[in-house]
Amino acid sequence: MELYDNPASPFCRKVQVVLRETGQLDEVTPRFAVGSPTAPEQMPVAENPLGKIPALVRPGGATLYDSRVICRYLDQRAGAGLYPEPPALWDTLVLEATADGIMEAAVLMVYEARCRPEEIRHAPWVAGQWEKITRALDALEARWMAHLHGPFGMGQIAVGCALGYLDFRHGDRDWRGGRESLAAWFLKISERDSMAATLPA
Ligand code: BEZ
Repeated sequence: MELYDNPASPFCRKVQVVLRETGQLDEVTPRFAVGSPTAPEQMPVAENPLGKIPALVRPGGATLYDSRVICRYLDQRAGAGLYPEPPALWDTLVLEATADGIMEAAVLMVYEARCRPEEIRHAPWVAGQWEKITRALDALEARWMAHLHGPFGMGQIAVGCALGYLDFRHGDRDWRGGRESLAAWFLKISERDSMAATLPA
């Protein structure tokens, strides 16, 4: 299988962590992809019409995207159990969606600065993305700590990758302030081999 990948992308990191946690790292050949919505030339548009990464090309099967589909596929393929059976499954999927939403907003903030000429940047729009992130972080701190401290699975992987991306691209915004439980949990999960081996770069 070929994996369109970029070490800065938190969505790609989710897949890289799952590959390690499920013992499938040797089964994919990474293909470095770089680009943005305004410069998609090097993105895998033939494999994913949305031109987004990660995308997993499978011989004899449809190319898989986005990260949620790929992670679910890799988990099933290895029988690794990163997604529990219902009803616990619904919590895991909501947690993964919350983490992905943090990543989406955080990446959009980066794109605003990277892709949009300074004179047409819109500060309230950037502030709105960060508000979305802070609401999600507050929800994690208030309601999700028991789950995060429970059996390791896809929810923990996704939240770990989202927080790692905030450190990577938005380190000046102090996401830890007032969220001591989440910060302590993140410190611990960052020690896992799969997380330590996939730090954004
Ligand atoms: C980044 O440089 O932050 C980035 C790169 C690829 C995908 C998403 C984010």
